[in-house]
Parts: sequence; structure tokens; C-alpha cells
Amino acid sequence: MVEKVPAGVSAVPYRGRGERAPEFRDAMARLGGGVAVLSVLDPVGRDCGLTVTAVSSVSLEPALVLVCVKKDGFIHDALFVADGWSLTFLAVGQVDAAHYFSRSRYPGDRDDFSTWDYRRAHAGEPVLTGGVAAVECEPHELVDAGDHTIALGRVVRVTPGMTGSAPLLHVDRAYIAPGPIVDGTTDASDASEQSRSA
Ligand SMILES: Cc1cc2nc3c(=O)[nH]c(=O)nc-3n(C[C@H](O)[C@H](O)[C@H](O)COP(=O)(O)O)c2cc1C
Repeated sequence: MVEKVPAGVSAVPYRGRGERAPEFRDAMARLGGGVAVLSVLDPVGRDCGLTVTAVSSVSLEPALVLVCVKKDGFIHDALFVADGWSLTFLAVGQVDAAHYFSRSRYPGDRDDFSTWDYRRAHAGEPVLTGGVAAVECEPHELVDAGDHTIALGRVVRVTPGMTGSAPLLHVDRAYIAPGPIVDGTTDASDASEQSRSA
């Protein structure tokens, strides 16, 4: 196949299946996004949480969201049997929660939410009330997608009483807080440039 690449642009080969595709991972790391904790009860009713950024709003009518979950992650199989799951959008003060819910675990491990304020969502899973917002979902569809499953959820409740203010963001493999753009520049972009050139 002849690849068409515009003059002056060098093509970066995509290594594709079976390899770690580092260029793809590096490119996606540059896409900043909000940090959420996906929470669900496992089949015996234990609390499970996973730090996620592959989250999107999908539809307003009906209200649908999606989250992409690694198939070999400990939380994955619970999504196939749970009555519901929730997404807590973390606040800047919850980096400790982002770390905790992204640690390596094995099937059968359990999570302890008691370090943080939380309440039970409609299907019993915990929602971290210190987040900036949270959506409680009924399962809508599970879509096979490579080494991930796309879980589509129908939003049945936006959790009231959330206390967080600024959302926690993740970009360039670092947690950051949002900042204002003044005259096209920010302190954050300066700091990011400096850390890249260091
Ligand atoms: C900022 C951040 C975002 C993440 N986003 C996702 C995600 O969207 N989906 C997912 O399945 N795992 C995501 N992960 C990975 C899990 O949170 C967790 O680190 C991983 O499943 C740990 O298991 P492992 O060490 O066995 O791979 C993310 C991790 C971090 C730190």
C-alpha cells in the first residue's frame, strides 16, 4: 500500500498488533483529560474502584456515558454482572485517590474506600463525594474493543452534594490542576515546556 504523506511531514510507522506501539501511547499521553474513578461492586458485593481517563459523554437522550476498561484489569469482569456502576470525576485534592485506585491488583483483591468521604449509589457502589461530579449508571451495553471493553452506561442519577471544586486533570503522564489562559499563555504551559526541555 502506498502511504500518502504531505510534503515536509515525516511518517511515523505504527507498529500495530503485538507490539507496544510506543508512538501511539506517547501521542495519546498528550491528550489531556479529566480523571475519574470507576466504581462497581464485585459479584460478592465488595467495593472495587479503578482510576480511568478513557471516559466520554456519548448521548444526551438517553443520557449515556462510556468508559474503556482493560480486559485484564481486576475490575473488568464485575462490569458484566453488576446492576450498575458509577464514575466519580475527581477534584484536584484527590490525587491520593487517583494513585490508590490505579495500583496493581489481582482478582479477589478488595478496595477500601473508607479513607475518603463516600456515599452509596443506586446499585450500592461507592461514590467519592469529594469529587467535582459523579454519574450513576445502569449497564447499557458492553462493546468488545481490542484489549479493552467499552462499557456504555445509562445515567440514572447525577449524584447530589458533591463537594469538590476544581477538576483533576491528567496530561503528559502527570496530574495537573486547571489554570486560566491569559493572552494565549499559562503558567502551566510554561512549566510543562520547562519540564520537557529539562
Ligand atoms: C491517569 C490514569 C488513567 C487510567 N485510565 C485507565 C482507563 O481509562 N481504563 C483502564 O482500564 N485503565 C486505566 N488506567 C489503569 C488503571 O487505573 C490501573 O493502573 C491498572 O489497571 C493497574 O493494573 P495493572 O498494573 O495490572 O495494569 C489508568 C491509570 C492512570 C494512572
